[in-house]
Amino acid sequence: MDANRAVNLTVKTWFCIAAVGHTIFLAYILAVFYPPIAQSGLDGLQGLHLPAGFREGDTLGNLAAVAHVVLAAIVIGGGPLQLIPAVRRHAPTFHRWLGRSYLMAAVISSVGGLYMTWTRHSIGDLVSQVTISIDGILVLVFAFLAVRAAMSRRIIEHRRWALRLFMAASAVWFFRVALMGWAMLTGGWGVDWDSFTGPFLYALGVGQYLVPLAMLEWYFHCQKREARQRVQIAFISTLVPMTVFMAIGIFAATMGMWLPQM
Ligand code: HEM
Repeated sequence: MDANRAVNLTVKTWFCIAAVGHTIFLAYILAVFYPPIAQSGLDGLQGLHLPAGFREGDTLGNLAAVAHVVLAAIVIGGGPLQLIPAVRRHAPTFHRWLGRSYLMAAVISSVGGLYMTWTRHSIGDLVSQVTISIDGILVLVFAFLAVRAAMSRRIIEHRRWALRLFMAASAVWFFRVALMGWAMLTGGWGVDWDSFTGPFLYALGVGQYLVPLAMLEWYFHCQKREARQRVQIAFISTLVPMTVFMAIGIFAATMGMWLPQM
């Protein structure tokens, strides 16, 4: 098999496994957050497991928290759907509307997340506040650049910014999957669960978006006509073990984090 086809096959396998993992996180969001919010509005956040989720009298903050978890469903469910070529081909109108909804949801969810992070105390410390905030800012910047490229009909550039947006908007999913995979394989080395700090959590704070974004840039490079076979094989040899780790992480997050709450 030539290296180009091997790169595509590896990326497709990665995508299918990531899409299954996103679907499980989506099911968790719909099952845990939607029923209490549909029933009691902002008060529905009370009694949920969110340390920064509900504050008596802080209507704006509670609104941000509700918008954050409600729109998270569109971000996590819509992202993988947007990337399926058959959906783009056979349902272009749906693709356009989902694209707009995804973009709006990612932007509002990130603004809500930034607001909660800096006005309420969640788990972790200043390092985790700063690293997740960088992700929120990346989402806003990539969303802006994706829209700007689409409006001026620069389609290849639009596709690239949209893929970068997907990686940044799904960073919180990578975080959960990598953390639980790591906990399962190492017993949680470098993680202090009580204070939610530690060297592994600090590395993951930036790794949750830097690693996916770096792999994406490498993939773009592998797709170029002048890409060398050596580089493509190195890419595959890096993505395969990462995909295995991701699959372990999805299993661990499902069993240890999502299913018990559903
Ligand atoms: C745009 C993609 C994002 C998605 C899909 C997302 C999803 C979620 C979900 C599902 C929760 C509920 C916690 C859980 O059950 O796992 C949550 C909580 C939270 N998120 Fe996000 N999030 C995103 C981005 C961000 C960003 C960029 C920030 C900060 C800048 C942020 C800050 C928070 C905070 C502070 C909480 C509350 C945690 C607590 O109660 O202690 N999120 N997010």
